[in-house]
Amino acid sequence: MDASQEISSSKPLTSLHEWEDDLLERYPTKEHTFRDYAAEVRPSVKEFYRLNHTNQTHDFVKAKKAQYCSLNSKKMSVWEAMEFLNTLVDDSDPDTDATQIEHLMQTSESIRADGHPRWFILTGLLHDLGKVLCLYGEPQWAVVGDTFATGCRFSDKVVFSEFFKQNPDSQVDIYQTENGIYEPGCGLDKVDISFGHDEYMYHVARDYMPDEALYMIRYHSFYPWHREGAYDHLASDYDRSMMPWIKEFNKYDLYTKTDIKPDVQKLRPYYEDLISEFFPAEIRW
Ligand SMILES: [Fe+2]
Ligand SMILES: [Fe+2]
Repeated sequence: MDASQEISSSKPLTSLHEWEDDLLERYPTKEHTFRDYAAEVRPSVKEFYRLNHTNQTHDFVKAKKAQYCSLNSKKMSVWEAMEFLNTLVDDSDPDTDATQIEHLMQTSESIRADGHPRWFILTGLLHDLGKVLCLYGEPQWAVVGDTFATGCRFSDKVVFSEFFKQNPDSQVDIYQTENGIYEPGCGLDKVDISFGHDEYMYHVARDYMPDEALYMIRYHSFYPWHREGAYDHLASDYDRSMMPWIKEFNKYDLYTKTDIKPDVQKLRPYYEDLISEFFPAEIRW
């Protein structure tokens, strides 16, 4: 029996951190000898991917983009969004897990420590704010997880790709050709990538941040492309020219978890100032 046929008795993620912790195990910093990732992965993570891969159809992605990317959900400042995201109650451990704001600031502070420009530091602060989708009532599988292309053949380079058998799109012939509904080399901008916090935050920030920042925000969870080399036949030269920015960003997103929690209130004036350099007092979400 393969994994896609198991009837799961597990619950999905206890917290959103669990997906990112799993990414660290899948993409460790140093080269490890081969180990069986799939055998060691936590049942909750596996159940999360089963739900994600089963339910993220092309129609679902288009419907969620129509619902959220016109930005009619809320009006709030960037800082208010950070505080709003921090109200997310899940089963993470408050003693060891960083809060949502702390993860954002660990990322931005490590970018800052390396002397990167101010827009890059701000990108670190913003990149996961799209997770407020959870507070709008969206399930975890519609907010986080490695993203993948819909409307074309499912890639076996996506983690737990065997679960795609349960996705109704696997029965739609046009979606199961190599290019699907797309032209080869059309550019990722034209591709309906599975919905989540990346795509939503890209739309929130698109009038205010430079192209490189928007690119990092939009594709930071697109691991099948930027880590596994999938979907390159749909990417354009522009996408390939931007990929180094994603890789640069990924270093800070994935590998800056430390036990030292940033002093949010002490850092607040610096970040309020940085936010106001790029954003008006209130923006649409
Ligand atoms: Fe993220
Ligand atoms: Fe992140």
